[in-house]
Amino acid sequence: MKDIANSQQFDDKLLCVAPMMAWTDRHCRTLHRLIAPHAWLYTEMVVADAIRFGQASRLLDHGDHEQPLALQLGGSDPQTLSEAAQVAETNGFNAVNLNVGCPSDRVRKGSFGACLMLQPDLVAECIKTMCDAVSIPVTVKCRLGVDDQASYQKLAEFVGRVSEAGAQLFIVHARKAILTGLSPAQNREIPPLDYEQVRQLKTDFPALSILLNGGLNDADTVKDVLEWADGVMIGRAAYRHPPFLGELHDVLYPKIDCCDNFQSVLNRYTVYMERELHRGTRLHDMTRHLLGLFRGLPGSRHYRRYLSEQARRGDAGIDTFHRACAEIELKAA
Ligand SMILES: Cc1cc2nc3c(=O)[nH]c(=O)nc-3n(C[C@H](O)[C@H](O)[C@H](O)COP(=O)(O)O)c2cc1C
Repeated sequence: MKDIANSQQFDDKLLCVAPMMAWTDRHCRTLHRLIAPHAWLYTEMVVADAIRFGQASRLLDHGDHEQPLALQLGGSDPQTLSEAAQVAETNGFNAVNLNVGCPSDRVRKGSFGACLMLQPDLVAECIKTMCDAVSIPVTVKCRLGVDDQASYQKLAEFVGRVSEAGAQLFIVHARKAILTGLSPAQNREIPPLDYEQVRQLKTDFPALSILLNGGLNDADTVKDVLEWADGVMIGRAAYRHPPFLGELHDVLYPKIDCCDNFQSVLNRYTVYMERELHRGTRLHDMTRHLLGLFRGLPGSRHYRRYLSEQARRGDAGIDTFHRACAEIELKAA
């Protein structure tokens, strides 16, 4: 039971699920929406050039039920980004977010992502051109800095400059990016987290919305962070263990009913999967986001193995999913 009377008031704060390439596709977002009705969801990063050349229709595909939904863009050409932002607005996205945090080689060679932290004037020009082109919010996701250019002073200069250009919401992944020698996965683990710098940003820019991202995987830490931040963005912990997202939703929005009853989330996602199967979507494309659902419960290893192996089969249907769930029920009986 939710204890509304005793819960702290965080309902003006934002809960976001992070953009994650190859993970937060429309099926994943549908699951997250069922679990967390009030959360902001993000697409995977979509390269603005790909939108310009009409190569991004799969990544832009979404349903109204996913809202509020932000399209994350990668790019550094103001005109291309502003056209992509217009496409976002026309297609019903509720915000557009510029990626200034991705450290991958591919992105760096395209001169966007985290390396843009070294070019605040260019980012400001991109943001201004995008803000002029659309009426939805244009926001930024960034790191603390890059390589040896990672002082608080530089971070504050970056945020100051880019906010003057029109960005009013910053999601800060609270570690720097190391642009050579580390893979993207290592760049999410090795540079140490430093929440204090993000907290200092909020002190120095009280009028901006400052959201913290990085390493948030327990509700108590999130509650502490929400004492000063305007919201949190959760990545891996939400994906790998979806019930955690439900737990956080209860912390932030205790009055909004969400996944008190996890079975009802599953039932509704099952209906969604049946509909998608009829449209020709492969079962595995949807169930791959469900592998962490029963983590820690008896039978969860069998469930995962069964689903990973069987859902890929060409003839896999909704029964395949039910049979996987039966592994949990058998152990629970
Ligand atoms: C598989 C994967 C893909 C990611 N893709 C993106 C992306 O497209 N855009 C982005 O800004 N960050 C991306 N990230 C980084 C996350 O958005 C987030 O900043 C990072 O995982 C730290 O948050 P966490 O500790 O809560 O996971 C990705 C992370 C993962 C694990």
